[in-house]
Amino acid sequence: MMIKKCLFPAAGYGTRFLPATKAMPKEVMPIVDKPLIQYGVEEALDAGMYDIAMVTGRGKRALEDHFDVSYELEHQISGTDKEARLSSIRRLMEECTFSYTRQKEMLGLGHAILTGEPLIGREPFGVILADDLCDGEGDGVMSQLARVYAKYRCSVVAIEEVPEDEVSKYGVIAGSSIEDGLYMISDMVEKPAPEDAPSNLAIIGRYILTPDIFDILRETPPGKGGEIQITDALLLQARRNMVLAYKFKGTRFDCGSMEGFVAATNHYYQRSRSAEPA
Ligand code: UTP
Repeated sequence: MMIKKCLFPAAGYGTRFLPATKAMPKEVMPIVDKPLIQYGVEEALDAGMYDIAMVTGRGKRALEDHFDVSYELEHQISGTDKEARLSSIRRLMEECTFSYTRQKEMLGLGHAILTGEPLIGREPFGVILADDLCDGEGDGVMSQLARVYAKYRCSVVAIEEVPEDEVSKYGVIAGSSIEDGLYMISDMVEKPAPEDAPSNLAIIGRYILTPDIFDILRETPPGKGGEIQITDALLLQARRNMVLAYKFKGTRFDCGSMEGFVAATNHYYQRSRSAEPA
C-alpha cells in the first residue's frame, strides 16, 4: 500500500530568524528562488504522497497563499517568458491536494503532529519538517523512507551521524543494526548532553509514522523543555512494537539555523548555475 498523506508541522515561531520571521513564516523563506516549504512538498510528491496536510498557526497565511492561484499575477505574466518560473509550483497545485489546520498553542512537535490527526485519520503518513532541507542522493529522503516502510510496515525515522558536540540539538537513538544503514531502535533521548547520548545518530526532520502514534501522543506527558516530544512517543512505540531508524543517503541542511540556511543557499545556487545553458 502506498502512503498518500504527508504532514507538515509548520506552526513554530522561527525565533532564530527574527526579525525576518516577525510577519513572515520561516517556511516561506526562499533558498534561491523557492520557499523551503515547496522543496518539502516536492519531496513528498516524489515519494507518491500527494495529499498534503499542514499544521500552521497565527501569521502563517502566506503558506496557504503559496499553494493557491494568484490571479492578478498570473494574468499579468501570462504568455511572457516569465511564466516558466511558475511551472514548478503549478505542478504541485495540479497534482496535490492541500489541507490546513491550526495549532493554537506551541506545545511542541509531538503536539503539532497530534493536531494534524483530523487531517490524517487512521493511515500511515509521512512527516516533513521543511526547515530540514534534504537533497537526497538518487531519490528524495521521503522516497527512501517509503521503501523501508513498504518492507517492514512500522514507523521509520531518518537519522544522520552528527559530531558529538552537536547531539544536544537532536533526538538521539540507540539501536541494533538489522541491515546496512537500518537500525531497530531500543532507546531514544531528546536533546541529551554529550555524556548522556546513547550514540551520535541523530533524528532529522523526516518520519513515516503509523497512526497508533496519535493514541500514544495523547498519553505522552510534556518532556524536555515542557513540550510534548515526538521522541518520547516514538520510544513508547518502539517498546510496544517496533520503530526503525534509517541512515538516509544525501545531504541535509538545517535551515532553522543561520549557518545551515546559508550553506543550503550556496548549494542550491551552485546547482542552478550549473544547470543554466552556457
Ligand atoms: P523548531 O524547534 O525548529 O522551532 O521546530 P521553531 O519555533 O520553528 O524555530 P525557533 O527554534 O524558534 O527558531 C521544529 C519544527 O517543528 C514545528 C516547527 O514549525 C518546525 O518545523 N513545530 C514545533 C510546530 O509546528 N509546533 C510546535 O509547537 C513546535
